[in-house]
Amino acid sequence: MFSNQYRVEKSSELIASTRAIIGDEKNAIANMANVAAVLFNGLRDVNWAGFYLFDGTELVLGPFQGQPACLRIALGKGVCGTSAAEKRTIIVPNVEAFPGHIACDANSKSEIVIPLVQNGNLLGVLDVDSPTLDRFTLADATALEEIVGLLVYSSDFGQGASQPMIRR
Ligand code: SME
Repeated sequence: MFSNQYRVEKSSELIASTRAIIGDEKNAIANMANVAAVLFNGLRDVNWAGFYLFDGTELVLGPFQGQPACLRIALGKGVCGTSAAEKRTIIVPNVEAFPGHIACDANSKSEIVIPLVQNGNLLGVLDVDSPTLDRFTLADATALEEIVGLLVYSSDFGQGASQPMIRR
């Protein structure tokens, strides 16, 4: 379904793929796993795509594609923790220039982080990394925000999925 041929980036196709792959599924973990795979395989020039989930205290690694990554990130720390704390999308053209950036994969040169928010409550973040400087544009931010919106709207982050996430 997502061969290398698919790496022609068209945000409308990524959004359509996300909608199709979620379908009627409500399980948040399953949907995040497939969204990570859609983005990792569908976006050009990325080396990591995945989620960190808010457990009520900090961010904990969730479904992702790419190299193994750091397990926990405190709110306000790194790009993910800053996006989560401020509940806003952050584009980092050069990770070395971002104070407090957390280097999980030394190949990552630029990064975009989109918060997952439902009714004002923080659920987690989507993080996408690239080995190329200045990879992410405002158009990417808009498309990824739409994808995250679809995911949050379609998935049950309340009962099933998020009970373990809010355990302390
Ligand atoms: N670079 C991120 C940490 C997560 S990894 O990139 C997967 C950050 O600074 O928050």
